[in-house]
This record gives sequence, C-alpha cells and structure tokens, in this order.
Amino acid sequence: MLQRAIDSSPHSPITDAVPAGAPLVRLTGVAKDYNGFQAVHPLDMTIERGDFVSILGPSGCGKTTLLRMLGGFITPSQGRIEVDGVDVTALPPEKRATNMVFQGYGLFPHMSVRQNIGYGLRLARTPAREVAERVEEMVDLVQLGAFAERAPTALSGGQQQRVALARALIMRPKVLLLDEPFAALDLKLRKAMQDEMRRLHDAIGGTFVFVTHDQTEAMALANRIAVMEGGHLRQLGTAEEIYLHPANHFVSAFVGEANFVRAMRRNGRVALSNGLTVVSPGEDGDVEIGVRPERLMIGAPAEGADVCLRGSVTERLFLGAHVQYRVLTESGETLVANALEGHFSPGDSLRIGWNLADQWVVAS
Ligand SMILES: Nc1ncnc2c1ncn2[C@@H]1O[C@H](COP(=O)(O)OP(=O)(O)OP(=O)(O)O)[C@@H](O)[C@H]1O
Ligand SMILES: [Mg+2]
Repeated sequence: MLQRAIDSSPHSPITDAVPAGAPLVRLTGVAKDYNGFQAVHPLDMTIERGDFVSILGPSGCGKTTLLRMLGGFITPSQGRIEVDGVDVTALPPEKRATNMVFQGYGLFPHMSVRQNIGYGLRLARTPAREVAERVEEMVDLVQLGAFAERAPTALSGGQQQRVALARALIMRPKVLLLDEPFAALDLKLRKAMQDEMRRLHDAIGGTFVFVTHDQTEAMALANRIAVMEGGHLRQLGTAEEIYLHPANHFVSAFVGEANFVRAMRRNGRVALSNGLTVVSPGEDGDVEIGVRPERLMIGAPAEGADVCLRGSVTERLFLGAHVQYRVLTESGETLVANALEGHFSPGDSLRIGWNLADQWVVAS
C-alpha cells in the first residue's frame, strides 16, 4: 500500500532517476572542528540506496555531529557531502532530501497525533486531501490508529517514538536520520521498536542512518555498521566483518568481548608463545592476536585446535546460557572462554586453544 503510493507519486524522491551504480550518499574528507576541538576528523564514507547504516561508538565520539552534518544542521569545517550526486554541503536542512528524528522526540504538545504527523506536509503547502491521505498511510504504517486523535502527552514513550518516526517518514526522505531514537525506552520496548524499525525499513525500501552506542542494537538493525572512536571512523562493514575481522584493538574490544594475546610479527609471520608461527601480512613489530571468548576451546576439544596452550582455571562463573572460565596460560596471559559445559573448577590444569580461522591480528 505504502510502497505503491510512493511508486506512483510523480515526484517521489525515493524513485527519482539516479545514475546507476553511484552511491546515494558520499562523504569526502568530512570533518568538524568546534573552535579548535576536532569532534570529527576527516572521513570518507558512502551509503548505498536501501542501506540501513548504524553509526556506533562510545559517548562523545562524534556520532551526533556526523549525523547532523548529514542532515544539514551542522556545517562541516571541511569536506564535501553529496546526496544523489548533488553537492549538499552548504544546503540547509529543509533543502536536503534527508529528514531527521531527534533524540528528544520534539513533538508539538498542542497538536494531535494526526496533526503532528501532517505538520511537514502542511508547511510545504501540500493540498489538504493529499495530506489527509498520507497521514492515514503513516498512522497505519506505525500502527497508531487507536491513538491518532490524542495529544502526544497522552502517549507512552514508545508511542511518541512512533509519531516522531511517522512525522519524518511522511516527507519521504531519501535518507532518514535517527539519533539514538530508543535511548529513553526500557529494554523490552527497545527490542519491540527495533523489530518495528526493521519492518518499516523493509516496507518502505528506504535508506536509514541510525546512531547508537549499543553494539547489540547496531547488529540487530543495520546491514552496515560504522564504528567511530574519538572522532575517527575506525571501520565500516557488515556485523560479521566487524565482529569476526575487527580492524584494530578498539573495534575488537568495543564490539563484543575479546581476548588479546601479545605476539611479534617478523617478515610477515607472527610467532605465538608456544612456538607456533602463522602467516600474517603487515609491518614488523608488536601485534595482538584477538579471539572471541566463545571461539576458545577448553579441555579435550582444544587438543585438536590449530593453536593449543596449557593453562589453569582461575575462575568459573555460571551465567545461565554459558559458563565463563578465566584461564591463566603458562605464558602468563589470562584468557576468558565461554563454554556450554561447565565441568572444570578453579585450580584445574587444562588445554585451551583456538583455530586460526577464528583469530585476527591487529597492531598493538
Ligand atoms: N557545539 C559544540 N561545541 C563544542 N564542542 C562540542 C559541541 N558539540 C559537541 N561537542 C563535542 O564534540 C564531541 C562529539 O560530540 P557528539 O555530540 O557528536 O558525540 P556523540 O558521539 O553523539 O556522543 P553521545 O553518545 O554522548 O550522544 C564531544 O566531545 C562533544 O563534547
Ligand atoms: Mg549523540
């Protein structure tokens, strides 16, 4: 229904002809300096049509600044932002084909849900009949039919969030920008809204950029994740790429839990403490080998692993879905292993190991 309405609209920004193969959004050397403080260092990024991109990183790493530059609320200190091949770097928000949902929902308390949703269209002097039709489409899409005549103050947080989403989506933006939209919601509602976001994204076929500091949320939603640290874009990739092949120490540790084993790289080979060496292209010097806790094997299975070390259990925690062991290796490193079975106890000597396919190597 909604898809048909969008497709049949002669000026729909979502279906306008665009050069084949060009990314929908291209950032080139985009940076932001607040009076000498570099909040975002020069970064390049492309977003494809239909992408659901998550910008992920700790508090203060520049996520909101980056999103606001995309939306035109902050002017970059340098660099260029293109949407559909058009340079929008100097354009204000209302002249861009982007639309933003802010952290606080910013709903008008004196207007009903319907009026809030239709506000942008009325401002754009859209004929009343079209406004009414598109408002109903949105009310259906975000399932607010029973509340459409209420004031936003008479809605729950999750319902207000739906109104804010509908109000942005009704403008049919080429790119929908969302800044931690579920931050104020409790965990259960957050999960429900994540399902809702996926459903909306699929229903509309649009392009979403979603800021979050929660890696689980980023993985649950996005087909591509941009990990930021201290104003730098550290990695842009699928959830699998980022989790299984993190580009550096920060990404390894921020996205999930990781063990690090110190090692040296010489002439393209990394030597492990047990004498094994593995091929690892890169500069000579100190490196870290990373392995996820759930990829470590302990006890008998470790004996068949590519890398097998000796160690002793220092701690055992029963965590319901798995048992977590801390193992001190003979070379003095503590590894955390998550296992489904838990028949080891502190003090037990055992083997601990992993397969080369499950490790990554980053500079330390
Ligand atoms: N107007 C401003 N003037 C000066 N510094 C600013 C301004 N706005 C943001 N900053 C600084 O820029 C950095 C990035 O801020 P930003 O709001 O982009 O972070 P964030 O990743 O969105 O953080 P959070 O997860 O807490 O929302 C922070 O160190 C912040 O203090
Ligand atoms: Mg922010």
